[in-house]
Amino acid sequence: MPGPDGTGLPGRLVVEDWDALTFRVNRVAYRSEEIFQAERDRIWARTWLYLGHETEVATPNDFKTRTLGGRPLIFCRDTGGTVRAFLNSCPHRGTILCREREGSSKLFQCFYHAWTFRNNGDVAAIPGKDAYEAAGEGFLDSMRLRTVPRLEIHEGFVFVAFDPGVPPLLDYLGDAADYMTMISEQHAAGMEVLPGTQLYGVRGNWKLGVENAMDGYHFAPTHNTFVGYLRETGFAVTDDDQYAYNLGNGHGLLVLTGHGGRISMLWEPRFGEDEKARTGAHRAEMDRRLGPERARYVADESHILFVFPNLLLFDLEGLSIRQLEPVSAGHTDVRAWQLAPRGEDADTRALRMKTMVSFVGPGGLATPDDIEAYEAVQRGIEATAADARAGTDFSDMSRGMIDEVKGVQGRSIDEGAMRGFWRRWVDVLGADGGLEVTGPRPESFLEGRNVR
Ligand code: FES
Ligand SMILES: [Fe+2]
Repeated sequence: MPGPDGTGLPGRLVVEDWDALTFRVNRVAYRSEEIFQAERDRIWARTWLYLGHETEVATPNDFKTRTLGGRPLIFCRDTGGTVRAFLNSCPHRGTILCREREGSSKLFQCFYHAWTFRNNGDVAAIPGKDAYEAAGEGFLDSMRLRTVPRLEIHEGFVFVAFDPGVPPLLDYLGDAADYMTMISEQHAAGMEVLPGTQLYGVRGNWKLGVENAMDGYHFAPTHNTFVGYLRETGFAVTDDDQYAYNLGNGHGLLVLTGHGGRISMLWEPRFGEDEKARTGAHRAEMDRRLGPERARYVADESHILFVFPNLLLFDLEGLSIRQLEPVSAGHTDVRAWQLAPRGEDADTRALRMKTMVSFVGPGGLATPDDIEAYEAVQRGIEATAADARAGTDFSDMSRGMIDEVKGVQGRSIDEGAMRGFWRRWVDVLGADGGLEVTGPRPESFLEGRNVR
C-alpha cells in the first residue's frame, strides 16, 4: 500500500476526529518493516537519543558498549576524564572494534589487523606503519576513531545524536529536563547507577513499550495481583488525582500518588517501621535543602517520564532507567538500570533493591504482565492486518479527549500522553497525509507542567 507522498509509507497513520472525539492509530505502524526503516532514518538518526548515565563510566578508562538505533557504540570515559561516545567500528575496514560489553582500558585494539586506538580516539599503533609512510601525518589523523557527532549531558544523563544539526539538548528536553533535575535533587549526595544491567527482548514494537509506560488505564486490571498485595499491606491504592502531561517534543509524564510509596521519601506500610524513621529524617533534610514546595514535588509524587524516543524513567518506589532499542518492527531490546543515592545506608539499599525487583524488575509483579500485554497486542493485531473495512485495522486511543475540549487536565487513566507521543511520531516521520485531523481541534492542548 504505497503512500501518497511517494515514500512507500501508507497514508493515514494517525486519524484524529474532533467531531466524533476519536483518535485512532493505524496498526501498520507496529507491523511494517518499511515504517521501521523510516523510523531508523527519520527518528533514530536525527534526534537526541539516551545513551547512558555518566556514573556508568565513573572512573577514567571505564567503558561500555551499547547499540543505539542499530549502531554499535563505545561509551567511555577517557584517560583524561572526558565522557565520550565513538562509533564502534574500526576506521581501517569497519570491524567491531571493542567486543567486550564493559571494562576498563586505555586502549582499544582491533582483532582483525591489530590497529590500536587510545580512548580519546587517537591512533596509538598500526602494525607495519611504514607502508603508509608516504601518506604523511594526515593519514593518522584521518584514521582516528569516529566520534558520535553530538554528545551532551544533563544531570548525569548522557545523550547522543547522529545528526550534527540537532538543537541543544536542553532545548530538545524542554520541560522534561526539570523532571531529571528533580531526580538528582532527591538526595544531597546525588545519584548513581548501580552495577548490573537488566536485559530482555520483547516480541513487540517499541512504540507499544512507550504506550504501556504512558498508560495508567491498565494499572488496576493488568497488575491486579500487585494492587491486591498493596491493599493487603495497608496501602490505599487509587487512580484518583493522578494526571498525564504532554511535555512537548513527544515527551510525556505521568504524575502518580496512589500507586505506592517512595523509598526514603514517602513511607508506606510494606517498607517497615525502620524505614519510617529514616524517611522522616531524610524528608526533613529535603525540606531544608530544597524548600517545602520543591521538596513536595521531588519527594511526594511518583513520576513516569518518557523522553522521546528511547528513554523511560520510572521514578516510583525506587528509580529505574529503561532504554528501548528497536531491533525490527516486531522486536525490541530493553535495557534497565537502577539509579540510587550515592552512599546510601545498607538497610535502605537492601529494601530499595528488594522493592524494585518485586515490581519493575524483569521478574517482578509488573514487568512480566506489561510485556505479556504488549506482546499480546503484537500478536493480536495480525488478525486485522490488511483488512480493508474502514477503521478495522486501527487501535483506539480516544480516552479522555473530552477533557482536551473542556480544557481540563488529562488524567493518568486516560490516553492523552499517548496521543501526544503519536502526534510527535507522525510529525517527525514526516509522512505526508500521515496525520488526518477532522473537526475543530481545541485551540490549546494542555501541555507542560511548570513546577520550578
Ligand atoms: S579492520 Fe580493524 S585493524 Fe583492520
Ligand atoms: Fe504496567
